[in-house]
Amino acid sequence: MADFTAIKERQRQAWESGDYARVGVTLQIMAERLVEAAGVRAGQRVLDVACGQGNAAIAGARRFAEATGVDYVAGLLDQGRQRAEAERLDVTFMEGDAERLPFPDASFDVTLSTVGVMFAPDQERAAAEVARVTRPGGTLGLASWTPDGLVGMMFRAIGAYAPPPPQVRSPMLWGTQERLRELFGDKVEWVGLATRTYEFCYRSPEHFADWFLANYGPIHRLGSTMDDATLANFAADLAEVPKKFNRADDGTVLAAGEYLEAVGIRR
Ligand SMILES: C[S@@+](CC[C@H](N)C(=O)[O-])C[C@H]1O[C@@H](n2cnc3c(N)ncnc32)[C@H](O)[C@@H]1O
Repeated sequence: MADFTAIKERQRQAWESGDYARVGVTLQIMAERLVEAAGVRAGQRVLDVACGQGNAAIAGARRFAEATGVDYVAGLLDQGRQRAEAERLDVTFMEGDAERLPFPDASFDVTLSTVGVMFAPDQERAAAEVARVTRPGGTLGLASWTPDGLVGMMFRAIGAYAPPPPQVRSPMLWGTQERLRELFGDKVEWVGLATRTYEFCYRSPEHFADWFLANYGPIHRLGSTMDDATLANFAADLAEVPKKFNRADDGTVLAAGEYLEAVGIRR
């Protein structure tokens, strides 16, 4: 069996670098849609896995659920606590690994992840953990970028400069029905599988590239290892990504990022 420990530590350091929360808050609408799709209701115990600064946990708490967020980057959890406090919401944020969730079996009525758990390198183990902590009859809700969408293309641009370790499968596979069925087998009955889009809005393709280089951990960290010429090429490649999907004709970016919104019932 592959040992993912060193890979995971490098990934954790990547998510810690930059200022992911500035990207994360732009994606809040995905979490709002996911809690609606998953039918989150008041009083339910809701877990947000790989929560970052807590988009899905906060969306759950806005509906009076008992919300918990778990992530392995302490700084992002602090941002989540500040956001919850600013909104006067009651959310518990805990440090933990998506591949070893710090909760007993069947602890939650609803387990959610918005473009979070998909990044765990041991996909089988992470899926098993998501299923384990969800009570039988409870709900899973996963929003995952698709391989051929904007973020899939962005990760291909990253891979051109830093190829992923061979034993790690692409996170974007969580954005395919086939892989979800493979990962969860008969533990989950998928009742809602919808391809949706998130609109990336930036001042220009170059602003998109600069914003991701400054803030998005995996890109920020990779960029910080490059010499000036390589960095300039990388920035130019990143600026090409939204261009492929852009519908704006005023120089700005209005580009649809495709993702799979999956809702399932834990058997
Ligand atoms: C793209 S961000 C998404 C964050 C948040 N869910 C959102 O909607 O903005 C990916 C998150 O997954 C977290 N993450 C990745 N692998 C993880 C793991 N193995 N255990 C816990 N968190 C993990 C990162 O720290 C980061 O916060």
